[in-house]
Amino acid sequence: MPSIYKKDFPFFKNNKSLIYFDSAATSQKPLSVIDAECGFYLKHNSNIKRGSYDLAEAATDMFESAREAVADFIGAKPSEVVFNSGSTEGLNTVAGILRPLLKSGDEIIVSGMEHHSNLLPWLELAKSKNIKVKYVFPKDPDLVFMATDFLSEVTGKTRVIVFAGASNFTGNKVATSEIKKITDLAEEKNIFTVFDASQYVQHEVVNFRKMNVDFLSFSGHKLYAPMGTGVLAIKQEKHSQISPVKFGGEMVKRVRMKDVIYEDFPYILEGGTPNVSGAIALAAALKYLKSKGVKGIMKYEKELLAYLLSSLKKVKGVDIYGSKAIKDKIPLVSFNIKGLHAHDVGYFLNQKKIAVRVGEHCVGLAHEYLCIPSSVRVSLSLYNSKEEIDKLVRALSTLVG
Ligand SMILES: Cc1ncc(COP(=O)(O)O)c(C=O)c1O
Repeated sequence: MPSIYKKDFPFFKNNKSLIYFDSAATSQKPLSVIDAECGFYLKHNSNIKRGSYDLAEAATDMFESAREAVADFIGAKPSEVVFNSGSTEGLNTVAGILRPLLKSGDEIIVSGMEHHSNLLPWLELAKSKNIKVKYVFPKDPDLVFMATDFLSEVTGKTRVIVFAGASNFTGNKVATSEIKKITDLAEEKNIFTVFDASQYVQHEVVNFRKMNVDFLSFSGHKLYAPMGTGVLAIKQEKHSQISPVKFGGEMVKRVRMKDVIYEDFPYILEGGTPNVSGAIALAAALKYLKSKGVKGIMKYEKELLAYLLSSLKKVKGVDIYGSKAIKDKIPLVSFNIKGLHAHDVGYFLNQKKIAVRVGEHCVGLAHEYLCIPSSVRVSLSLYNSKEEIDKLVRALSTLVG
């Protein structure tokens, strides 16, 4: 039986025989999201925050309503929600924000399982300011992070702790209680926390306030919204320490020869024309999820994950990275098959019209840590089905013989 959600995604009407297992790279989009994006250009297109005519004011209202929808979805205040082009921009922005607040000799603790987008900005910042980066890997043999993995590394010099809610390589997530332990201790010691929710927000309930992280970043396109959309949530209590990192129109209240007065949050970090249609379509994606029932979707995704894990066990020589326990994971599994190169597996599956990701998945450090050159990644979403998993497993079984 196909997924009950699949019919909402026109992509599959145009790609009938394709099995899409690469939603961690980007998700397909429901029709309502595509309509929202097109609808903006068909009916409402005008720049925001600057026109004083009805059309421009309506577009501004739509953009700000989108911000409210995002804030509501992640349990933040609208003033804490900054729109951007995606997580890469968001995480680079955080590194830019923290640059003037850090000094030579400070330390940044970074999970060694990070996507390059949440690693390279920190390495570059550290290099330019003589800051020490301390990599942290999970002590758990299944690579599940516990708060102590990070907190045992904290010294008097630690200024930032950087980690992802869920790994785009192992699919392991950090338990809510562990996140809270990290952020509470960090708050006590005046350490900034940077939380990459790029693989988390589409599979877990996010409550920015309760999680108590300072910075939370995600991309819209992995959450059923268009590419070029993203969100950086920044805790209100930190706003007074933050200076803008991108300068231009609409992030400033007044420019005179003698002085410049910047905007308030969140506009101070949104210089230039934003992706207005994208933000509106992101709100449509959230509306879609709410209308279908977030809890039901999560339950369905967990069932698929359990089925994938148990089915993969039947394939000879499969070595799964990360935890095999549903409670520890988002619906994403990476593996290798003994004697086969991941790229050959991907090539073979492609011939069977099954799209998986192969390679390092922009998680070079973790692959180095495990001494593997690459892996095969299957990432599931609400439009996938058990039948598709059966087809994957049949194809892999044929391959191993
Ligand atoms: C965990 C994680 N962080 C950050 C990113 C970067 O996202 P984007 O390429 O949308 O900026 C990705 C993308 O795959 C990711 O999986």
